[in-house]
Parts: sequence; structure tokens; C-alpha cells
Amino acid sequence: MRIIRTANYQEMSQAAANIITDKVRSAGKLTLGLATGSTPQGVYEQLISNHDRNGTSYRNVQTVNLDEYINLAIDDPNSYHSFMKKNLFDLLDIPAENTAIPNGMADDLDRECERYEELIRSKGGIDLQLLGIGGNGHIGFNEPGTLFSSRTHIVSLAESTRQANSRFFPSLEDVPKSAITMGIATILDSKEILLLASGEAKAEAISRLISGDCDESFPASALKLHENVTIIADEEALKYI
Ligand code: GLP
Repeated sequence: MRIIRTANYQEMSQAAANIITDKVRSAGKLTLGLATGSTPQGVYEQLISNHDRNGTSYRNVQTVNLDEYINLAIDDPNSYHSFMKKNLFDLLDIPAENTAIPNGMADDLDRECERYEELIRSKGGIDLQLLGIGGNGHIGFNEPGTLFSSRTHIVSLAESTRQANSRFFPSLEDVPKSAITMGIATILDSKEILLLASGEAKAEAISRLISGDCDESFPASALKLHENVTIIADEEALKYI
């Protein structure tokens, strides 16, 4: 795993945005895997500003998101559908039909998992996957104990994840208890992976990712099995490295 150490969140965001915009500008056809949460927001701001200033176009870009809550209406302000529209899609020239997010409102959720896997395959697989990391090492919504062989599946969210994400909801009770997420094997099929981390709250997870064992009790450690992973993290997140 390559590590890019940055001074702060702003530089972390800029470094990731530079890698993404270079690819968008040079690749004829590109499928980006996208993430939600606070961490990638700065990257999305940089992509939008680069699109506005330099005209970088997303007309030929396809996107697939990592995950979505189950039983949260697509237009709920806390759904990942709303997050992506508000923070990225509505501010770029990407056609809506090029973007995909798992449907947590599907009647048949098992079928939806299969459909999502097929959809990723039909887009030619993921060229570049952006990831954040949970304090417990989750990637996407793959909580500790998830099999490294997992494909898109339904998960029960860890209490620590619900608590961490409750900052976006009116109260903890409003945070969904389950989600649909790309599996770890789905993520590992990506040709290239960028994992972002900022702030002291992520320092232990980053230290365990870099120095710890590769096992299913710590989902992000699966990334050690991939040959093209870059961690872009700021000083605070790298304070134990
Ligand atoms: C959420 C998302 C993850 C994200 C993680 C960290 O639960 N499902 O994809 O990486 O938590 O979020 P944040 O970047 O807000 O710290």
C-alpha cells in the first residue's frame, strides 16, 4: 500500500481530487466507485471546482456508489442518494443514468444485491474506487466479521457505526439499523483503490490498517490483498505511523 501523507484535510482532498481529475481527463471511458460520509466531501468540492474552472467533463464517466441505508426513502435528506445528488451529481455534467447507488427501498433486497453486482459488471468493473474508513475498520458498510469473499449484501449496522452516523440524523433512533453495501470482494475487484482518512478519530484505524494483521475482524485490512491501493491521509490520521 502506498501512503501519501498530507498536512491537513484540505491537502488530502486536493491530492485525491488531482488523481481523479487526471483519470477523468485522460480516460476515454471510466467507472468511478464513490463513497459518502464527511471524508470525501472535500474531494467532491474540488472536483466541482475543477469542473467549473477547467471544464473537466463527466459526460463519459460512470459511477457506482458503495452503499445505501435500507428503508430510508431515496429523497430523504439523509439517504446516500440525496447526499450524492447534493454534494456531487447535481453540480457536474454527469448524466443521471450514468450514476448508480444500491436501492435500499427495493421490494426484493436479495434480488437488488444481485442486480447491483450485475450492474457493476455491465459497466466494465470499477476503475478507481474511493473509500473512507470507519473507526472500527469498516469499508463501505462492511462491518467487522464480514467475509473477505463477500459480494453486495445486506448488513446490520454496528452500534458504533449507528452512533457515529447519528450526527446527521435528528436522533439515534432515526438511524437505520441495516444497509446494503458492496461486498469486500466487490471492492477488491476494483483496478485501483484510494482510501482517505483525516483527523485523530481515524488514527487508530489507520495504524491498525498499516501495521496490523490481515483478517476479517478488521475489514479494511482486506486491502492488503490488493496490489494497487493508495492511502491518502493527513498528519492527524497518521499520528501513530
Ligand atoms: C459511513 C460510510 C462509509 C464511510 C464511513 C466513514 O458509515 N458507509 O462509506 O467511509 O462511514 O465516514 P466518515 O467519512 O464520515 O468518517
